[in-house]
Amino acid sequence: MTKAMQDVIDVRHLIAGEWIASPATDVTTDPYRGTAVARVARGDAGVVDRAVAAARAAAPGVAAMPAHERAAILHRAAALIVERAGEIGETMARETGKALGDATGEVRRSQDTMTLSAEEAVRIEGSHVPLDASAMGSGKIAFMLRFPVGVVGAVTPFNAPFNLACHKIGPAFAAGNACVLKPPPQAAAVVDRLARIFEDAGAPPGALNVVHGGADVGRALVADPRVDFVTFTGSSGAGAAIKAATGLRHVALELGGAGQTIVHADGDLERAAPMVARNAMRLAGQSCISVQTVYVHRSVLARFTEMVVAEVERLVTGDPLAEGTDIGTLIDEAAARRVESWIAEARAGGARILTGGTRQGAAVTPTVIADPQPTDRVVCDEVFGPVVSLVGYDDIEAVFRSVSESRYGLQCGIFTASNAVMLRAYRAIRTGGLIVNGTSTWRTDQLAYGGVKDSGIGREGPRYAIRDMTEERMILFNM
Ligand code: SIN
Repeated sequence: MTKAMQDVIDVRHLIAGEWIASPATDVTTDPYRGTAVARVARGDAGVVDRAVAAARAAAPGVAAMPAHERAAILHRAAALIVERAGEIGETMARETGKALGDATGEVRRSQDTMTLSAEEAVRIEGSHVPLDASAMGSGKIAFMLRFPVGVVGAVTPFNAPFNLACHKIGPAFAAGNACVLKPPPQAAAVVDRLARIFEDAGAPPGALNVVHGGADVGRALVADPRVDFVTFTGSSGAGAAIKAATGLRHVALELGGAGQTIVHADGDLERAAPMVARNAMRLAGQSCISVQTVYVHRSVLARFTEMVVAEVERLVTGDPLAEGTDIGTLIDEAAARRVESWIAEARAGGARILTGGTRQGAAVTPTVIADPQPTDRVVCDEVFGPVVSLVGYDDIEAVFRSVSESRYGLQCGIFTASNAVMLRAYRAIRTGGLIVNGTSTWRTDQLAYGGVKDSGIGREGPRYAIRDMTEERMILFNM
């Protein structure tokens, strides 16, 4: 940890280009060391009201900016992310307990997300409506163009706090909108670094406003009718509450997943085992696409189980800031206790804990479970912890059915050498995306990312988010 990083960071709201303190503050804490990282202004409904008013006032100016100017600001933001990558990664590792290597990887992806947003800003196209398809259209010509929605309200999570905030504010600005962002209370300081980058890149005052605080601040933001579009990443429960609160306004909800991955009899076990182990445990399992339940053909189950356990036991756990650490802590001790209780529930129901299963403070040891019940929470809910369950199968069609019937449908993985099995899985599994010869955990930032069922509504990735953050408007000319 550098000397500068030992200072407690002062985090304020950003409203209309001013950094605003609040009388009340919260402290973000390093979950590994238990030390304070940042003192954060605690917002309330009044602060949200001011931030939304600032965004409304700025929105016409942002919409009127030529696309090349918006793109230039986003390119500058991408360059500043690279320049400040060290302090961003270190702040993230301290606030979230994420291993420094993973935090640095996230910062690299954020640069891509900003650059992709810049590139998409100059590609927002319209279309011609072929009116001569009907006799009534004769002598007329019509076009569809896209316009910014106005004000985007964004609520973001702690697990990938920097890049997932970029996935909201990058496309929102690229599309010509003003934005109010509500970062996660646990990772406010790292998002503050992003807000400062946006300002330093030349975003006009009010184009990005940031309000800090708890769930009450998020609720006030999404309920405000002056917010035209709400984009949220977080739990399915909170997503459902946002949908209920937003009435006829559009929303994009990127919610939970159950990380199902299938290893078929002809799958490449040497390739699959290290991927399953690493992708179940990275970020201490706190990713919506983290591998969680692996269905393994019974003919290879014993061998594959041995390989996965060996790979998991090779992972280095410990100080998130230490070089060589693969897995740090969960976000806090309460989260670790919840995961511990879900493991205990599976054990009580007859599951075997093959490795791990213990907790120390906010850290849970990487855990491999065999023989869970389909109703155990480690299988049917989102664990969001370093836990993977291995489940044997004989009939792959039954696996496709059970994955499709899960309440979640974000991403799945399948390992098989058979084109027929890959295509059958693609058709049969109701999910947002299928990764062939890979696990559920794979994302690069230009991909369409999002789910079905309780995993959400809409797709992220700058190109797809911009579609959501713009409205199509028709114009018809009588010639
Ligand atoms: C998520 O948890 O949904 C984010 C996954 C990622 O961007 O890698």
